[in-house]
Amino acid sequence: MEHTFIMFEYLVPRAPDAIIALMQQAKADPNPDKIDLGVGVYKDDSGETTIMKAVKLAEKQLWESETTKSYVGIRGYEGFRHGMLDMMLGGEDGKIDSALLNRTASSQAAGGSGALRLGAEIIKSAAPDATVWVSTPTWANHIPLISSAGLKMEKYPYYNRETLGVDFEDMLAHLEKKAKPGDVVLLHGCCHNPTGADLSEAEWDRVADFMLAKQLTPFVDLAYFGLGRGMAEDTYGLRKVVEICPEVVIAASCSKNFALYKERVGLVAIVCKDEATADIARSQLGATQRKIISMPPDHGARLVSNILADADLRKVWIEELTEMRERMRDLRRQLSEALDVQGGETIAAAVKDQNGMFSTLPLSVAQAQKLRSDYSIYMTDSGRINIAGANSENIPRLADAILAVL
Ligand code: LMR
Repeated sequence: MEHTFIMFEYLVPRAPDAIIALMQQAKADPNPDKIDLGVGVYKDDSGETTIMKAVKLAEKQLWESETTKSYVGIRGYEGFRHGMLDMMLGGEDGKIDSALLNRTASSQAAGGSGALRLGAEIIKSAAPDATVWVSTPTWANHIPLISSAGLKMEKYPYYNRETLGVDFEDMLAHLEKKAKPGDVVLLHGCCHNPTGADLSEAEWDRVADFMLAKQLTPFVDLAYFGLGRGMAEDTYGLRKVVEICPEVVIAASCSKNFALYKERVGLVAIVCKDEATADIARSQLGATQRKIISMPPDHGARLVSNILADADLRKVWIEELTEMRERMRDLRRQLSEALDVQGGETIAAAVKDQNGMFSTLPLSVAQAQKLRSDYSIYMTDSGRINIAGANSENIPRLADAILAVL
């Protein structure tokens, strides 16, 4: 008998998102001199994404001590959650204040994306009519990830493609006019993706006061902390909104700062107004994780918590993280110097001052595509570069090619 209920032929093909497509294109290019400035993955001077030393050491210790692969629990391992909260929200002594800890519900998540999705699901359960506001531009996957929880999304102005800085007054004016009390504003804690243009500390202070006055909830995406200006500097904005606003949602990732990409290590935290509300949020986080992926992945999270808890491993990690950050700052300086000729001055200044892996150059789609086809230089069509994909040897060639297509 013929089975007539055929369904998969009704599927329509879907293109991979721009970043994934670019990864595939760069990989397929046989040119040995290609420069891959695409996906947000740190690379060393020889173009490798190596495993960090502290991670290797922690893996060895874990291999020797781990006795079970049984499930870890629906919200993951407490040592990981608290270690992360200490690192992000700790004071001078590196410990989160105990009252704040008690009113913060958190969960291990499948990467920063898993954390964003869990955060979005909890917002949807608490405030189904809330709109989530995202910067223009924002990470390509923010809108699909958050809207698939069923939330409405809107955009606020952020990056000015002429000055290559943040249009801060426009951002606040727009939100002042259009956002309604109870809405949520997604903020990049540091190393804005895709622009590298961050808020200054004084601007974070104003954002925090603005959110409180306007009754908006900050949703802070902290994907690159430690890779901008330093751990304390990169968490300043987050700590400020947590200090001022009664409720904050945090999605943190260890993909970049621990180079644990494929292990999928993330933390979602919901800072609530009091402990009783946090208990409810904890139950919601557990139930939501359960219905999406059931149990969180644990290997990478255990490595992170072991590194954070061990003074020697932590020192090894911080040293390497500092080297990575300084290498990117140095590459920014070199590219900036090479671009600092007539016509390139604005880009030169921006590239030097921006933070983390990314800058968005003021190139048209045609110019970005020309760099790809004529020079084997890979950046997104929007002009986003990952500076860690360059090196001292190819920077002059990169700068010449950018100036040639401008
Ligand atoms: C990026 O922006 O390139 C990274 O966050 C990787 C990704 O998954 O898009």
